Formats: sequence, structure tokens, C-alpha cells
Amino acid sequence: VLNAEDRRLLQASISKLDRRFEELGGDALCRLFIVYPQTKTYFPHFNMGAGSKDVLHQGEKVAKALGSALNHLDDIRGALSHLSDLHAYNLRVDPVNFRLLAKCFHVVLAIHLRAEYNACTCLAWDKFFEMVGETMCEKYR
Ligand code: HEM
Repeated sequence: VLNAEDRRLLQASISKLDRRFEELGGDALCRLFIVYPQTKTYFPHFNMGAGSKDVLHQGEKVAKALGSALNHLDDIRGALSHLSDLHAYNLRVDPVNFRLLAKCFHVVLAIHLRAEYNACTCLAWDKFFEMVGETMCEKYR
């Protein structure tokens, strides 16, 4: 559960990143496909070449959705409910993949936030990604 300090740290990260948060999505997704190539099987129709617009665009969508969850920390479930249906029922994404993507986001956040990405900030993001992952996987039960 996110406490007041976690929320403050998440807010601080977001304001430091400003609009670049959406760009982080593309970086994170790019990393996901390189580090965990099995995740590419969900996107057979994507161009996976360097600097692919497909990947950047998809990353932007993911980051926007995460941004909306960040704006609704008291109702992450509500904010992501349609996406949770989509990933469970239509796309059938295996739940392990949400953790893999979260790991990639951690790396990208660390690169952009540098010294600010200390242990407490890392923990706040980790809690956030766990909550998002749980929400995205709920429908599988
Ligand atoms: C599509 C968000 C994780 C596979 C999408 C879309 C969003 C989104 C916003 C676009 C939906 C639309 O166009 O209506 C998220 C979020 C994630 C996440 C917030 C985690 C925090 C994943 C993971 C995978 C995945 C881990 C698989 C490795 C897909 C696929 C599509 C999709 C295959 C459809 C892409 C297309 O054909 O255009 N996701 N996603 N997602 N997502 Fe995710």
C-alpha cells in the first residue's frame, strides 16, 4: 500500500520528468523486447527495428495509461479497468510479463532520475508497479 511518503516521492519523480514520462514508455518497451525477447511474440505485427515507430507509439500508450493510474492512486483499478479486460480476455498476456515490463521501467526511471532515484523512490515505484500489475492480472482469476 502506498503511504503518504510514497505518494510524495512518485509526485516528485513525475514533476522532475515532466512530459518526458511518455517518452519513457518507448524506452521501457524497447528494453523489454531486447532483454526479454519472448515478449515480442505478442506483437508479431510490429516493426521491431531500431527506432521503430510502432514501439515508440505503443510505449507512449502504455506510459499514458500509467500516467492516468498515477493520477488516480486511490482508484488504480478504476483507471485501468478497461485495459485489464483487454489484456486478460482479448490479448491474453501472461501475467509474468507485467513484472518484466516493470523491471524495464525501473531501469529507465533510474537513468532519467539519477541521484533522485534513491532506495525510497525506487521502493515507491516498485509498490506502484506491483499495484498496477495486480490490477492488470485480476481478471485472470
Ligand atoms: C495494448 C497498456 C503491459 C501487450 C495496450 C494499450 C495500452 C496498454 C494503453 C493500447 C490499448 C488500445 O489501443 O486500446 C499497458 C499497460 C501495461 C501493459 C499499462 C503494464 C503496466 C503489457 C505487456 C504486454 C502487453 C507486459 C505483453 C508483453 C499488449 C498488446 C497490445 C497492448 C499485444 C495490443 C497492441 C496492438 O496490437 O496495437 N497496452 N500494457 N501489454 N498491450 Fe499492453
